[in-house]
Amino acid sequence: MAFELPALPYAPDALAPHMSAETLEFHHGKHHKAYVDKTNGLIAGTDLEGRKLTEVIRAAKAKGDKGLFNNSAQIWNHSFFWQCLSPEKQTPSGKLAEMIASSFGTPETLVKKLVEESTNHFASGWGWLVLDGDKLGVGSLHDADTPVAHEGMVPLLTLDVWEHAYYIDYRNARPKYLEAVTANLINWDFVARNLDGQGISRADQG
Ligand code: FE2
Repeated sequence: MAFELPALPYAPDALAPHMSAETLEFHHGKHHKAYVDKTNGLIAGTDLEGRKLTEVIRAAKAKGDKGLFNNSAQIWNHSFFWQCLSPEKQTPSGKLAEMIASSFGTPETLVKKLVEESTNHFASGWGWLVLDGDKLGVGSLHDADTPVAHEGMVPLLTLDVWEHAYYIDYRNARPKYLEAVTANLINWDFVARNLDGQGISRADQG
């Protein structure tokens, strides 16, 4: 079965004013959809047709097929990203809150580190909060690169820092976008769920 554009887990206007319905219309409805359509076109009639999305991403990397890697990785990255956002303002709790305290001191320090890392990431890419053993870590990956293609990388939370994520609402002001999203839209319940190490499966399909 061909890959599908996953439905947003909230209404398109639910994240406003921090992320507008117009941004979601383009970012989800056009950009994310284009990655799905291109991937389906690239694998049609090949031995990768019918395989899981994560298998396609890893096979494309192994073969050095950049076009297929970029498009399929972006399906997964965006499918994960939408789940990292919530219309309801949340705060970390339980085990996640304890881990944030031991790795960063406070949630504010963690968010500051994540915003700094993502702001300073050169050109397009993704900021990541990951589980590293029993600790939390902050990092970033370039362009379409994805935890799916990095053995042992356990994703908890991502921030899209491609310009298409913020140009409608914030023009070129990447820090303003990151500050608004991290202060208001993070789905900390989803982040906490990913402490089970199964985050990669939550944006997989096929
Ligand atoms: Fe994006």
